[in-house]
Amino acid sequence: MKQIYLDNNATTTVKPEVLEAMLPYFREQFGNPSSVHWAGRMVSGAIEKAREQVAQLLNCSSAEVVFVSCGSEGDNFAIKGTAEALRHKGNHIITTTVEHPAVLETCEYLEKNGFEVTYLPVDKDGMLDLADLEAAISDQTILISVMWANNETGNLFPINEIGEIARRHKVRFHTDAVQAIGKVPVDVQAAKVDLLVLSGHKIGAPKGVGALYLRRGTRMTRFMHGGHQERNRRAGTHNVPGIVGLGVACELARLNQEKDYAYVRRLRDKLEQGILSTVPDVKLNGHPNPDLRLPNTLNVSFNFIEGESLLLFFDMKGIAASSGSACTSGSLEPSHVMKAMGVDIVLAHSSVRFSFSADNTEEEVDYILAELPPIVQRLREMSPLYQREEPTPLHCDECRMVHKAS
Ligand SMILES: Cc1ncc(COP(=O)(O)O)c(C=O)c1O
Repeated sequence: MKQIYLDNNATTTVKPEVLEAMLPYFREQFGNPSSVHWAGRMVSGAIEKAREQVAQLLNCSSAEVVFVSCGSEGDNFAIKGTAEALRHKGNHIITTTVEHPAVLETCEYLEKNGFEVTYLPVDKDGMLDLADLEAAISDQTILISVMWANNETGNLFPINEIGEIARRHKVRFHTDAVQAIGKVPVDVQAAKVDLLVLSGHKIGAPKGVGALYLRRGTRMTRFMHGGHQERNRRAGTHNVPGIVGLGVACELARLNQEKDYAYVRRLRDKLEQGILSTVPDVKLNGHPNPDLRLPNTLNVSFNFIEGESLLLFFDMKGIAASSGSACTSGSLEPSHVMKAMGVDIVLAHSSVRFSFSADNTEEEVDYILAELPPIVQRLREMSPLYQREEPTPLHCDECRMVHKAS
């Protein structure tokens, strides 16, 4: 059976160059980078090289890069670390209703601990109104946290404009760039962000490693307590192979990004246009202008069908995609992003996300476009929500009766 992987916003395969670079750090170069002896010294240089590779991708200094274990840790660190460090200045945080749970649940935790959080709404296309953001800022606001790109719809937020607003009001700005890195250019100077989070496993590095960009002079309370690694900013023995892999993945992203954006965009657009023109009752979720979405992401709702059922049928054909619903304690909850966009509950349940990488091919898109319409039709036939068109009755001139069309 074919295997077509179109769930690259969930995770990516480790790139061959990344794996190759990591292997020595499991074997001969096994030391603890904090050790002063030869074994430690052998690996500490590799960590600094990786830091430089991350910094070059983000356009910052390597001293501003802190290695963490994943995107979720980075978001927790950025938000809780800011909240505690700036508690004396204010207790108000602004974020959006469509953030990843790593941000939303961190904010909800802080609400239980004396902070106030404004969750900015989005419109039907999933976009923010910057006037709402500016109006929400008060003299108590210490942090604005807005994602660079949404993981479900691929929508790109106006990060440079938000950076301007934050600067003007002297409010710290954090962005979760986990989905943007490697897919669109990310420059922390142009965007005027103070804190930015990325995750290795979304860009061809392994799971279990990420980085936090911490603008020079940004005061933070420590999040992980213990040893004095990462210049005292994050305790814990380094994940040396993972960090080396993250460095190489960032370098590959920097070198190949333009070529890769154009390539995945062509595949995504072909799938998008193919689905919208051949399958009836389909709704695009996200901004209608493809320039305002990540080049690799397509989210569509197939009306009258559960997204989960569609994924099972796709799986039988070897196609891996994902749905916006999260199966929690037996009940299928529609995605909070679809809810925030005001998507009708039936359509929200029928959403499917396809996310490409540069490893996908045009033949794969052709295969999906051939397999998808009959699967959708079959599931609709089984759906109680789907009203089949009654065939037009035949009037028989001979017996003057009405026969059902066959
Ligand atoms: C936008 C966004 N933020 C944060 C995360 C969490 O990253 P990690 O899986 O590295 O913890 C994800 C993962 O899907 C994500 O898409």
